[in-house]
Amino acid sequence: AITVDPAARGAKIDDTMYGVFFEDINRAADGGLYAELVQNRSFEYSTADNSSYTPLTSWTVSGTGQVVNDDGRLGERNRNYLSLGAGSSVTNAGYNTGIHVEEGKKYDFSVWARADAGTALTVSLQDADGTLATAREVTVTKSGWAQYKATFTATGSSSDGRLTVASSAAAALDMVSLFPRDTYRGESNGLRKDLAEKIAALQPGFVRFPGGCLVNTGSMEDYSAASGWQRKRSYQWKDTIGPVEQRATNSNFWGYNQSYGLGYYEYFRLSEDIGAMPLPVVPALVTGCGQNKAVVDEALLKRHIQDTLDLIEFANGPASSTWGKVRAKMGHAKPFHLTHIEVGNEENLPNEFFARFKEFRAAIQAKYPDIQVISNSGPDDSGTTFDTAWQLNKDAKVDMVDEHYYNSPQWFLQNNDRYDSYDRNGPKVFLGEYASQGNTFKNGLTEAAFMTGLERNADVVKLASYAPLFANEDYVQWRPDLIWFNNHASWNSANYEVQKLFMTNVGDRVVPSKATGTPSLLAPITGAVGLSTWATTAAYDDVRVTGADGKTLLTDDFSGDASQWTHTGGGSWSVQDGQYVQTDVNAENTMVSAGDPSWHDYDLKAKATKKAGK
Ligand code: AHR
Repeated sequence: AITVDPAARGAKIDDTMYGVFFEDINRAADGGLYAELVQNRSFEYSTADNSSYTPLTSWTVSGTGQVVNDDGRLGERNRNYLSLGAGSSVTNAGYNTGIHVEEGKKYDFSVWARADAGTALTVSLQDADGTLATAREVTVTKSGWAQYKATFTATGSSSDGRLTVASSAAAALDMVSLFPRDTYRGESNGLRKDLAEKIAALQPGFVRFPGGCLVNTGSMEDYSAASGWQRKRSYQWKDTIGPVEQRATNSNFWGYNQSYGLGYYEYFRLSEDIGAMPLPVVPALVTGCGQNKAVVDEALLKRHIQDTLDLIEFANGPASSTWGKVRAKMGHAKPFHLTHIEVGNEENLPNEFFARFKEFRAAIQAKYPDIQVISNSGPDDSGTTFDTAWQLNKDAKVDMVDEHYYNSPQWFLQNNDRYDSYDRNGPKVFLGEYASQGNTFKNGLTEAAFMTGLERNADVVKLASYAPLFANEDYVQWRPDLIWFNNHASWNSANYEVQKLFMTNVGDRVVPSKATGTPSLLAPITGAVGLSTWATTAAYDDVRVTGADGKTLLTDDFSGDASQWTHTGGGSWSVQDGQYVQTDVNAENTMVSAGDPSWHDYDLKAKATKKAGK
């Protein structure tokens, strides 16, 4: 039974309480939310960033053509271009399966080109079954760089289309681009409509961006102009704004190249479009994300701090200010109303981080006293690093501290009261990343249960965002995720529906309640549990793990990756023809689901004794 006292007044709940966290992980940006259909449009992919990349990744040249980096380049940050021979062509394969077009819809092609003697470019869209649009001819008239455009109307639908540019005479090409006309809100350099609409439907209170570990990309490296542009560079917001052909392409913490076509301006614009508070995260020169390093370089630190001040001016400054002018030139004379900024992500050297954080905060508060500067508590939800970080945050009277955790559904049930005991006079909490390990209904349910604890403590927990937001099913490197997509479709997880429920029904105030006779929490699974199809042969398919109560906890058809399991005991294991095979049938084994967190609903161990001959 639940007893509610309508007259009692609990914590006030801010409209901004529940938000989203967008990070370019799982190819969420290029090939995802950013609507560009051409991959590696500026020929900047680099083997230095990913051993499988070359400047011609996703491109095929027919005839003669090579990527050149010389004084004839399009710009300082866009250094490579394609030098295409007379009578030659180049074809782009898009992302994953290819370029997605829909019959009857319009697609805008553009290219930066130069040709000493002028040339005619024939631009076509096709897939293996034939043409997808009437080819268009573009006449290049200048020997200097200029942009040329054409529009296609698709005559067929396909998710594995190819874009080909053929040239009658020798030409230099760069920024070869194809955008659907039908982007979110019809914006140029816009967002893929179905994905942006899914974010908008959540009605999030804030958008945290651009990472995550992504902001740690090279954050301790020198990025002075003298160090050159061809090397791996740090993530800097200034690289992500301005005309797209002037934006850098960079390595991404998550192992691929990012075009920065979706940059800070677009993040601010998205936040504004959906009525959410923008919440950027800037690198702190410590890190974070598995790298136990703290840079000792005062000049670099000062530069990052200045960049952060400039970012605030870019967001909020008048159109007459240095960075406000840049924003206005991009089409947004009015400010974006930035109120919060986060310094650092999952910094796991608390003392080193804190020394730098304080310098950031002092500089920001001196110039922008109304901006809330958010600190963080490292990568864990408890432990020495976490405790040290919290103590430092408390001592320094920090406004708000970012916490992150990815745990089992059971943990979420058992920790509903996590914030009941937090200091009411200490820093507020920004739960910047959390998820239970899985995308099943049960995961959603346990997250919902946990969120009631966040809401009950809305005086302490001020902001909360599930993470990560997106996964491209053709490039999954982290799961679970809130929204899934491929080239032509997108779908919501059960967790998404939970987030939507909370975000679209944010209350004004908590009404205190008491529950009695509530069902007990799921019993913790410890030690051995049964395996229903285990002990008869040396090869296993469709293993099912059941708990003591007979309920199924985990199934695995072994169609995937055997490395998800670790074993103690004898024998070696492999996946053969969709079966999981053990070589030594006499061994007693404990198998633990270890790799992909979405598989194991519990921290479970499955134990089986195998006897010779069985
Ligand atoms: O959300 C995915 C990653 O999890 C984030 O980049 C990082 O902050 C955390 O470790």
